[in-house]
Amino acid sequence: MIEINEVTKKFKDKKTSITALKHVKFTVEKGQVVGLLGENGAGKTTLLRTIATLLTPTDGYVKVAGYDTQKNPEEVKKRIGVLFGGETGLYDRLTARENLEYFAVLYGLSKHETKVRIDELARMFGMRDYLNRKVGGFSKGMRQKVAIARTLIHNPEIILFDEPTTGLDITSSNVFRQLVHQLKRDGKTIIFSSHIMEEVSMLCDSVAMMHKGELVYHGHIEELYQSEGSQDLNYIFMSKLVRGNETYAS
Ligand SMILES: Nc1ncnc2c1ncn2[C@@H]1O[C@H](COP(=O)(O)OP(=O)(O)O)[C@@H](O)[C@H]1O
Ligand SMILES: [Mg+2]
Repeated sequence: MIEINEVTKKFKDKKTSITALKHVKFTVEKGQVVGLLGENGAGKTTLLRTIATLLTPTDGYVKVAGYDTQKNPEEVKKRIGVLFGGETGLYDRLTARENLEYFAVLYGLSKHETKVRIDELARMFGMRDYLNRKVGGFSKGMRQKVAIARTLIHNPEIILFDEPTTGLDITSSNVFRQLVHQLKRDGKTIIFSSHIMEEVSMLCDSVAMMHKGELVYHGHIEELYQSEGSQDLNYIFMSKLVRGNETYAS
């Protein structure tokens, strides 16, 4: 479903070159929920932006549903929904419905398709009561729902969330968690980055751990717990990094 093959990404300017991704390689099957873990600067956003066709790999390739993100970006974009961080980018002066309609137009949905889809999302997210109210007066949790609904307007198979709960209060974080459960039941494939271990262990089937641009682990979370003899992701993550550094030193 998503094939990330030996992806390297270098950012260069006149003086410096930063390698944000180093030969990253893993695949994500349909219907899986993957947690992307890593410290600040590990390369999580760069990887998600590369999958979303927004960045060109310096080396290697990414395929989504068999389509290369560089050769067939349009086919890839149709199939993915993306939400980067807290930037909800909603128009406060428009109602929730109008915000969603605006995005439906960008994705080329017909008027009828748009109406059906908005009704569906409003029901799914419990937004029917405030669909026709201006977003300006919404709570964070309500905004979060509209932002996620917008990400899903074209009913994508794959959803990428970059640090979706960073900076959110507990109520809004719970909104996100419930929605992920729901999307998972609908068979969606989800990759989300986080540094909240608890969130990852609650929601994910598998984890991808990144450190300084390298993938230090990818696999099923249950297998990880077994092989590490612990269910403490925080501890496992730290010990993987320590072992990783030992390998670099030798
Ligand atoms: N547009 C850019 N130009 C130059 N360097 C960048 C750019 N985007 C990210 N980087 C660098 O790439 C590395 C990985 O960044 P990022 O993918 O944002 O990490 P994360 O999301 O895990 O915090 C960092 O060293 C960051 O400074
Ligand atoms: Mg980031």
